[in-house]
Amino acid sequence: MKGFFLHLPVLLQEVMEYLKLAPGDTVLDATLGGGGHAAQCLKKIGSKGKLIAIDRDPEAIENAKESLSEFNSRIVWVNDNFRNVGDILRIAGVDKVNGAIFDLGVSSHQIDEAERGFSFLKDGPLDMRFSNCQDVSACGVVNDFSKDELAEIIREYGEERHASLVAGGIIRARAKKRIETTKELTEVILAAVGRKYRKVRLHPAARTFQALRIYVNDELESAEVGVRETLGFLAARARICVISFHSLEDRIIKNLFRNAAREEKLKIITKKPITPGRDEIRANSRARSAKLRCAERV
Ligand SMILES: C[S@@+](CC[C@H](N)C(=O)[O-])C[C@H]1O[C@@H](n2cnc3c(N)ncnc32)[C@H](O)[C@@H]1O
Repeated sequence: MKGFFLHLPVLLQEVMEYLKLAPGDTVLDATLGGGGHAAQCLKKIGSKGKLIAIDRDPEAIENAKESLSEFNSRIVWVNDNFRNVGDILRIAGVDKVNGAIFDLGVSSHQIDEAERGFSFLKDGPLDMRFSNCQDVSACGVVNDFSKDELAEIIREYGEERHASLVAGGIIRARAKKRIETTKELTEVILAAVGRKYRKVRLHPAARTFQALRIYVNDELESAEVGVRETLGFLAARARICVISFHSLEDRIIKNLFRNAAREEKLKIITKKPITPGRDEIRANSRARSAKLRCAERV
């Protein structure tokens, strides 16, 4: 096992209550990560149940194969993008699932591993890919895209008001030397917009890092396609839970659920998104921006 894979599952109790799984169920965990949600699902569905466990990150799959080894015979392991969920389920011979969970974004483990390049707080190569099979890394985007392209990515996916200033700072810095590490990029951002964040609690690099990660991994389109496809595989009265960590993702899920409800394919169970309580946020600061939405197949 590479490193210690620590990830506290977010809104675990709420997810389990909403999913309402029963012994023998077939469940889709589209974002296996550290396997925290998966482990609880496996306990609920018992020895006759089946879990389809997807993660785009091969390291997550390898780690979970060890941590969930006691359940191995009931798990179908899939190292792929969940946007391919239709093909994944068809190949696994699954035509309906009795529950599905998408816990979007990155795991604490991915953020904490400096060499994955996700964190502005740790120095590592500017990577941010979920899998090294992907062609484009954050380094490629930062060093090869035009100023306009960079500004658009940072504005759209980071909701950064000062996107042009950040993009301008990147262009000036890379004219002297390629920006290759997270620390180098963070310093460039601090020099470009640090003063604008003097009275703001958010780190000046947070929005730009989020934007690059979303772009590099095509996160929004993957979520939209993956969740939409999954709705077609839900058995009658099966539930889907989606946890998102920023407003762009949450809006996509809200609209998907709303449109399917208008077509009378889905009943929305959470009229407003469920958020973690104070105790959970105190124990796991990553939970603070989580929003859970649940819907049921009609
Ligand atoms: C927040 S973590 C999931 C944590 C997990 N629920 C647990 O209890 O440990 C998100 C995981 O989803 C994976 N992921 C993100 N986007 C993906 C995609 N498009 N397809 C498959 N896996 C993806 C990431 O690699 C990461 O391991």
